[in-house]
Amino acid sequence: RSARRAAAPARFLGREQQLAALSAVVRSAVPGESPLAVVTGPAGVGKTACAVQWAHGHAEAFPDGQLFADLRGFNEGAPAEPAEILRDFLLALGTPPDRIPTSAQSASALFRSLVAGRRLLVVLDNAQSSAQVRPLLPGGEHCATVVTSRSRLDGLVATDVARPVPLQALGAAEGTALLGAMLGAERVADDPDAARELVELCDGLPLALRAAAAQLTARPRWRLARLAAALRDERRRLALLSAEDTGVAAALRMSVARLSADDARLLRALAANADGHLNASVAASLAGSAPEDIQDGLDRLAEMHLVDEEATDVYTISTLTQLFARDEGSGSGGGG
Ligand SMILES: Nc1ncnc2c1ncn2[C@@H]1O[C@H](COP(=O)(O)OP(=O)(O)O)[C@@H](O)[C@H]1O
Ligand SMILES: [Mg+2]
Repeated sequence: RSARRAAAPARFLGREQQLAALSAVVRSAVPGESPLAVVTGPAGVGKTACAVQWAHGHAEAFPDGQLFADLRGFNEGAPAEPAEILRDFLLALGTPPDRIPTSAQSASALFRSLVAGRRLLVVLDNAQSSAQVRPLLPGGEHCATVVTSRSRLDGLVATDVARPVPLQALGAAEGTALLGAMLGAERVADDPDAARELVELCDGLPLALRAAAAQLTARPRWRLARLAAALRDERRRLALLSAEDTGVAAALRMSVARLSADDARLLRALAANADGHLNASVAASLAGSAPEDIQDGLDRLAEMHLVDEEATDVYTISTLTQLFARDEGSGSGGGG
């Protein structure tokens, strides 16, 4: 069932700092509290890979096992209901099907009482909201929970002392290493400048780099520079990185789909005109609204990692997000 452990990511590399941060969250548990980490970042940055990699590396710390659930917070369909996930968890813990309460509240209480004395790791992938996560938290101080989300889940951090573990895009060295792991070191060593340019054109996003590597794997005679040249064309870039429905455009579509109409309009206005950095007053003039009306929208886009707040009132949008939002704005978006 869905509560099984997820497979370890293939050829995972880097992220030492974030893996150490996850270990620190678990180690620094306060008596009576259950450690809770939230891995956050934009679509495709490597949140799931990081959480699952850590879980695999620390299996021995949780001798009673691991529970894994995809909360489907950013899929085509509806997000998972807590009751549905609790049912999977309770079944995995050996509760007979006819003893599983139908209300999420009772199921949550039973779940907590069952795991109270155990040493168990719970991984909640793709959480949509803090409210979706809360009924699934084990609570026992020997348990630990790792949540991943595109949203910062500020509520969980504020009220449930969740510790954020933010993930950023890869730098040139890590990005080229990832390309090397997928394409073979020789192909990358053949043209290191093109490899670095590919990382840049992919915004350092592991999902985009995987897509770029897939293009090169399908074309064994292409040099890296040839793909870089193709990606340089902004009209082709997203399509080349979105060959499958698992590509960059599909991932961004699911983030944008969760925005209100006003916030989506704000994102499109910023994407159409922004050039690098912007602040609330620039955003307001781009969107044609008053700065005081724009701040909340900007905050929500930042919470969803569709824009980055680099410093107080300094925002950036990644190029791929910009290209996607522009496409949507030009009327080609909306459909599947
Ligand atoms: N550190 C890494 N090393 C190797 N591959 C990675 C790494 N991080 C992410 N990936 C790969 O990049 C893709 C996107 O990562 P994923 O964890 O699914 O992103 P997210 O959960 O943030 O949307 C996956 O194919 C994943 O295996
Ligand atoms: Mg994920």
